[in-house]
Amino acid sequence: MTASRGDGGARGRGRGDGGYGRGRGGGSRTGKGPVRDEPRNAAFDVLRAVDERDAYANLLMPRLLRERRLGGRDAALATELAYGTLRGLGTYDAIIEYCTDRAPDPDVRDALRLGAHQLLKMRVPPHAAVGTTVDLVRLRVGVGASKFANAVLRKVAARSLDDWIPIVAPEDPVGHMSIAHSHPRWIVSAFRDALGGDDAETADLLAADNVRPLVTLVARPGRSSVPELQDSGAEAGRYSPYAAYLPEGDPGQVPAVAEYRAAVQDEASQLVALALARVPVEGRDEFWLDMCAGPGGKAGLLDAIAAYGDPDEGFPGGKHLLAADVQYHRARLVWQTTREASVITADGTEPAWRSGAFDRIMLDAPCTGLGALRRRPEARWRRDPAGVPGLGALQRGLLGTALDAVRPGGVVAYVTCSPHLAETGIVVSDVLRGREDVEQLDARSYLTEVPDLGDGPHAQFWPHRHGMDAMFLALLRKR
Ligand SMILES: C[S@@+](CC[C@H](N)C(=O)[O-])C[C@H]1O[C@@H](n2cnc3c(N)ncnc32)[C@H](O)[C@@H]1O
Repeated sequence: MTASRGDGGARGRGRGDGGYGRGRGGGSRTGKGPVRDEPRNAAFDVLRAVDERDAYANLLMPRLLRERRLGGRDAALATELAYGTLRGLGTYDAIIEYCTDRAPDPDVRDALRLGAHQLLKMRVPPHAAVGTTVDLVRLRVGVGASKFANAVLRKVAARSLDDWIPIVAPEDPVGHMSIAHSHPRWIVSAFRDALGGDDAETADLLAADNVRPLVTLVARPGRSSVPELQDSGAEAGRYSPYAAYLPEGDPGQVPAVAEYRAAVQDEASQLVALALARVPVEGRDEFWLDMCAGPGGKAGLLDAIAAYGDPDEGFPGGKHLLAADVQYHRARLVWQTTREASVITADGTEPAWRSGAFDRIMLDAPCTGLGALRRRPEARWRRDPAGVPGLGALQRGLLGTALDAVRPGGVVAYVTCSPHLAETGIVVSDVLRGREDVEQLDARSYLTEVPDLGDGPHAQFWPHRHGMDAMFLALLRKR
């Protein structure tokens, strides 16, 4: 059986809503034909857009929901269908492959993934999961393809997820975790190395990566406060004195966020900025630099700490932040979100500043972003291991110029949103090997409220240990 295109159903491409008409939520049947289910249609459109044109699910889905006027339970269902399917597709593809004797066309494959997610993860009753997916394929692809989908999904439905894993996952630990927890193999390997080869902990991390994170807000000191965010429905954070979790609702509707006095920022991202501000420096402490500042999460917090201080932390204020980014549009975002900082477009590897000009420097280096995979459902499938060496060279270059830009006695924070050893500890030790003028501080000692940051001297945050992104922090002092 081949999945024939255009042999029936409604493939009316070219309309503004993705080409398939607008519904009002729920399902609608016209005559005896297949049921058009709006949440599943929206989820399918997101999967196709991610597949076909590299769309970002978390940008597209809210737009589709708005355009199609899907709210409440329909919106929640569409979102879970799309995001959950994207996260789990490594597992689902292995099971689908086992149940088919030929590779499905890309659109049918997306529908099968959607069906598998409902059957194996969401516990939608099999008749509903299979029936709605078959209807979807019939409407969107064709009758022939819908019969094929029906046959495949019936096989998928014959076992639970727990029963499928031993059948489709290889036996070696990395291969097994890659299928069982739906992450590319090279990422599982990188995580396992960063966790010292501990398989059980690697599995915990991968499982945590599959859970949608809480929205964390930062109350920028001197401009907002955690109690103000609590008045807007947030709950105080666990570790950062500036953090608050927003259990539901649109963060853009929180007045302090709309006015840039607060922002969405992961707690680890807050804590690395806080640690840099906490390191005592002797003598002058006036000029701070954020070398890779866009879009401005850390710069927004550093700007507030530098300018306004924080009596609870003993920060006096009255200091100045220069925020730079090589990309103009990212520098503009920094300008928008900061209040007192100077913002420039500049390449950190070709400094626009004098050597030794700064007392504190944040270098939040461009990286693979493997520490924030839980934020974007499709991100893990887009990352490419071939990019790691190039990023490593850039990270070494930037760290070298950051160390040149800090004055003797000053401090550099080297940060990545990745736990990959080739971007973290190895970069730091390579750069320090050539420099007698730099000592590494124990970053954990500036974050004593956070447990389990690793063996030091750097600090490594983890989703499964701390509920935060897997961010890395090394603190380096110029002698
Ligand atoms: C990990 S992001 C920084 C995130 C930011 N610190 C925050 O908290 O929002 C890395 C940034 O480095 C910038 N970048 C890349 N290469 C650079 C270079 N050579 N000089 C300066 N910035 C660079 C990128 O444009 C990107 O905005």
